[in-house]
Amino acid sequence: MSVELYDPVANPYAPGAGTPPPALVGRDGVIDIAEIALRRLKSARASQQMLITGLRGVGKTVLLGKLAALAERIGYRVIRVEALGGDDTIHSLLRQARRIVEELDGGARVGRALRSIESVSLTVAGTGVAIERQAGRADREALSDVVTDVAAAAAEEDLGVMLALDEAQMLDGHDLRRLLAGVHRCGQDGLPLYCLLAGLPNLVGGVAKAATYAERMFTVADLGPLSPDQVVQAIVEPAEEIGVSWAAEAAEQIVDLSDGFPFFVQTWAYHTWNAAIDEPISAADVERAAPNARHALDSSFFAARIARIPASEVAYVRALASLGAGPHRSGEVAAAAGKSTSQVAAFRDRLIAEGVIYAPRYGWVEFAIPHFDRYVRRMVPGFP
Ligand SMILES: Nc1ncnc2c1ncn2[C@@H]1O[C@H](COP(=O)(O)OP(=O)(O)OP(=O)(O)O)[C@@H](O)[C@H]1O
Ligand SMILES: [Mg+2]
Repeated sequence: MSVELYDPVANPYAPGAGTPPPALVGRDGVIDIAEIALRRLKSARASQQMLITGLRGVGKTVLLGKLAALAERIGYRVIRVEALGGDDTIHSLLRQARRIVEELDGGARVGRALRSIESVSLTVAGTGVAIERQAGRADREALSDVVTDVAAAAAEEDLGVMLALDEAQMLDGHDLRRLLAGVHRCGQDGLPLYCLLAGLPNLVGGVAKAATYAERMFTVADLGPLSPDQVVQAIVEPAEEIGVSWAAEAAEQIVDLSDGFPFFVQTWAYHTWNAAIDEPISAADVERAAPNARHALDSSFFAARIARIPASEVAYVRALASLGAGPHRSGEVAAAAGKSTSQVAAFRDRLIAEGVIYAPRYGWVEFAIPHFDRYVRRMVPGFP
């Protein structure tokens, strides 16, 4: 085989954050549900909204992007925001809402939508609202009106609106409640508004807390790891398209190494491609790639996360990691740290807020980052 086939420039794999994979596998069911919902809403039929949850690197952002593109194709305008905490999220949402409304032909509902956007803008730090415009009424509660008024203005031109919020667990609880109130009213008024929230698993609890009716508004798509067959498909299909094949054992090895987590699949496939010298790509090629793949995971995926954890919380992280993979009782983690549950409660809560851990059920905790326990055991001082 010619060496050019394994040219790194032609490498089809896409490890990254939100980078569309060459083969998006295992998500057809969720995409179908969303497409039916989008089409129903466009024809004024009721539909549930969508909540996408899953651990870090499982493919939430990629799926959100895919559904946003689908929505645009079938006549939706998309407001897409990544919640970062703070007012930036709302600022970005309002900016996009305003752009959508300004691009409409100016039906009867446009002025009203602009006024709602204006009154929320006045509550948002750093929007640079000119002094003379401050005659308007500052009203954060009008965030729910923004949702309904923008949907109503778009509907006049036979357009739908998708509100796609990534990292939604970071959204301020009051703002989440206001947005959901708007989404709820759109449902009651038959307006074509599709709300897509993506975030870590604790988002489900956050949504339920924001509004009592909210749980019933959403279909929850809890993205898990890919099945072994899906991993093989994600690896083999993109290569086949450009005339490269993988030995079955090589793809199987990545099934094992990745545990089905899409980010790990892309990382291993990417580095194996670059290191490969056999044809078809062999298990020995996967071995050849191991130092680079492991280094890439350690230095990007894991290191970035541990770097953001304050020293005071590292002891809790270390205690959880010492118990091995999977969920553990909060009490056991506290005991492993040599503390009582109440002594570590504040650390646990902060780590949940930071998206490092989550509570899969009451009284239990687990890392929100797959394979993080192994990384901590290898890299954080304090383990033999
Ligand atoms: N269904 C899939 N099939 C194959 N690869 C995928 C799939 N979904 C995502 N990926 C790959 O996995 C990686 C992570 O995807 P993405 O950034 O969407 O994850 P995420 O869940 O948003 O992670 P985070 O919680 O860190 O934001 C990307 O490299 C992407 O190409
Ligand atoms: Mg993401």
